[in-house]
Amino acid sequence: MKEKIRQINEEIDRLVAENHEHLEQLRIRFLSKKGLIPALFADFRNVAPEQRKEIGQALNSLKQKAAEKIVSLKDHLEQGSTAEASESDLSRPAEEINIGSRHPLSLVRNRIISIFQNIGFNISDGPEMEDDWHNFSALNFPPEHPARDMQDTFFIEKADDYKKQVALRTHTSSVQVRMMETTEPPIRTLSPGRVFRNEAISARSHCIFHQVEGLYVDKSVSFADLKQILYYFAMEMFGEETKIRFRPSYFPFTEPSAEMDISCILCKGEGCNVCKYTGWLEIMGCGMVDPAVLKNCGIDPEVYSGYAFGMGIERIAMMIYSVRDIRYFFENDQRFLKQFTSAY
Ligand code: PHE
Repeated sequence: MKEKIRQINEEIDRLVAENHEHLEQLRIRFLSKKGLIPALFADFRNVAPEQRKEIGQALNSLKQKAAEKIVSLKDHLEQGSTAEASESDLSRPAEEINIGSRHPLSLVRNRIISIFQNIGFNISDGPEMEDDWHNFSALNFPPEHPARDMQDTFFIEKADDYKKQVALRTHTSSVQVRMMETTEPPIRTLSPGRVFRNEAISARSHCIFHQVEGLYVDKSVSFADLKQILYYFAMEMFGEETKIRFRPSYFPFTEPSAEMDISCILCKGEGCNVCKYTGWLEIMGCGMVDPAVLKNCGIDPEVYSGYAFGMGIERIAMMIYSVRDIRYFFENDQRFLKQFTSAY
């Protein structure tokens, strides 16, 4: 049925009437009682109930389109234009071209990547299925840490010995462990990717989301370097007048650790319902790589130090585009997806 509707639609788009007699033939072919379109309406009772809404709408618009086309061809004939003239009418509107659009999460990810690529970060990638070492142990998570719990992590292989467990990665810090294990410092890398956490799906959280994490390891890297790089990022990403602030926090793999806030991008710090009248939005975790983590990855912490940071792409996309429900990003509804044409 859908295919037939599509074919008739195309045929109508191409219709040209040579004279009034021909036009009448066309009207009979499409719209008379025994015509193609009423025949489809007669067939409608065989359409499955769950498809009726969609097909019903398509049929109605097909019928309307055919009627309008006949009227416009008639107008054309009456204005004395011949079939030839209408074929070569350069002022006729072109047929619409249905171009695709980038997914909003890709737009935001690409923007973040290009900001860090400009200052010498490369892009690294790793598996979504991870072993315990790369996702937890190398990053200093003690064996009894709650993040290792079934409640937080999707396990693919549970084992009595936690070291043998395989899970979907819960953050892309696992990629950074792989980079540190295989690369001599200096390391300046950005790891974008999909991560998984066993959380209830709601307007604000999803069990699948995307992160971008960054890592810099070299001689004498300091917290001041971290602050400066993140200030640069905030200005590039959210505008020159953006302010940042750091609050102490805790992650097993960084010491000291912090949470970075930016001044609210909507109210510029005045206070609104997006920033809950605080003037600030939390956007990422960061800190100095714990010397024990460097050591786990074969890097001498007496010689090298490093910083790391990580942010959620959905969260930033929701702020930039004022999207109120994270689930929109995963529903593939074109009416939603087609609204995004650039990173802002
Ligand atoms: N891995 C942390 C998370 O998933 C983010 C983070 C990265 C924090 C690097 C500090 C340093 O929440």
